[in-house]
Amino acid sequence: MKLFHFTDLEKKAESILGSHPFTYIKSGSGDEETLGDNIADLRKWKIRPKFLQDVSKRDLSISLFGKNYKTPYLLAPVGNLGIVHPEAELAVSRAAKQVGVPIIASTVTSVSMEEIAAEAGDRWFQLYCSSDMDITLSFIRRAEQAGYGAIVITVDMPALGFRASDLTNQYAPFKLGAASGNYFSDPVFQKKLACSPSKDFQRAVDEQLKHLFAPGFSWEDVAALRMATDLPILLKGILHPSDAKKAMEFELDGIIVSNHGGRQLDGCISSIAALPAIVDEVGGRIPVLFDSGIRKGADVVKALALGADAVLLGRPYVYGLAINGEEGVKEVLDNFIYDLDATMATAGVNAVSALDRDLLVRT
Ligand SMILES: Cc1cc2nc3c(=O)[nH]c(=O)nc-3n(C[C@H](O)[C@H](O)[C@H](O)COP(=O)(O)O)c2cc1C
Repeated sequence: MKLFHFTDLEKKAESILGSHPFTYIKSGSGDEETLGDNIADLRKWKIRPKFLQDVSKRDLSISLFGKNYKTPYLLAPVGNLGIVHPEAELAVSRAAKQVGVPIIASTVTSVSMEEIAAEAGDRWFQLYCSSDMDITLSFIRRAEQAGYGAIVITVDMPALGFRASDLTNQYAPFKLGAASGNYFSDPVFQKKLACSPSKDFQRAVDEQLKHLFAPGFSWEDVAALRMATDLPILLKGILHPSDAKKAMEFELDGIIVSNHGGRQLDGCISSIAALPAIVDEVGGRIPVLFDSGIRKGADVVKALALGADAVLLGRPYVYGLAINGEEGVKEVLDNFIYDLDATMATAGVNAVSALDRDLLVRT
């Protein structure tokens, strides 16, 4: 593969994936104002290095919920990976395990969370709360039993965003059944089916789509889920400090500042622009993770220096998967770790824990 620029990864993935699947991965909602701002706003921050520090040893490690990790990376939940590579989430899980990076498995995967767990190392489960609370609770039980270490509730998808490019292409992988692994294997969902998916696939997919999103999901439901599990719960998609405050009031364990890679609310604030106020509101009481726009080591340094405890990689690893399956994902991860290490050294910082706002200026 030997592709070190994000733009090269993207170009190569485009040449491999068909135009509609590639557009599904690459694009954002609306006219991609927010997708663009995620990148542009990261570039407004500049690193102000301090030299003659001893950077002969660099410590990239972090700790989250009492566990130590070698690097500050996690893999973001990405659904529908079956359109990217035949081994989809299983290849991603194996690659992440080799490198020692935790995965956050999506609700909408091509295979079940149990099959993913069998291949994965450290793993968290991302939950799209179903409009049917019994399905949601079943997913949580299954995640507990399959050894997932945390539940990540994605809150920024009460409905699918206005995905103009996919609408233009009339492309909807959810409808192709690329995201049915957890639903079709779920005992609560199965009871809703008149016949098994193997007998009438499309009917089962249609039934899944009825339950997939929960526009009525509210803080009261969050309180119920808090009572339902002892696993750490994080909310993903937080952009407003007052939601971060509420997450703490509801005794949640962490938040992920994210705008879903610009795929949901177009015209909303970039993820990096949202980060500092949320970090200030949280004041170190619970971990604050970050995604949307990470393309290179310097982006990671900026997010961590602004107060994030860890970052999630999204599209870059999906392109690695498209290009070369498990090996491709591993190569992307290795390169991100190398880049972060080199960026820290050349910025005069020897530990992730030493990154702070003094390192940055906003231009
Ligand atoms: C193709 C695609 C599918 C995604 N599916 C999910 C998902 O199933 N659940 C979720 O919480 N986020 C999902 N996301 C959002 C990612 O978790 C993450 O927030 C986003 O990719 C970060 O933006 P970036 O890739 O531009 O860095 C998806 C993103 C992409 C690109």
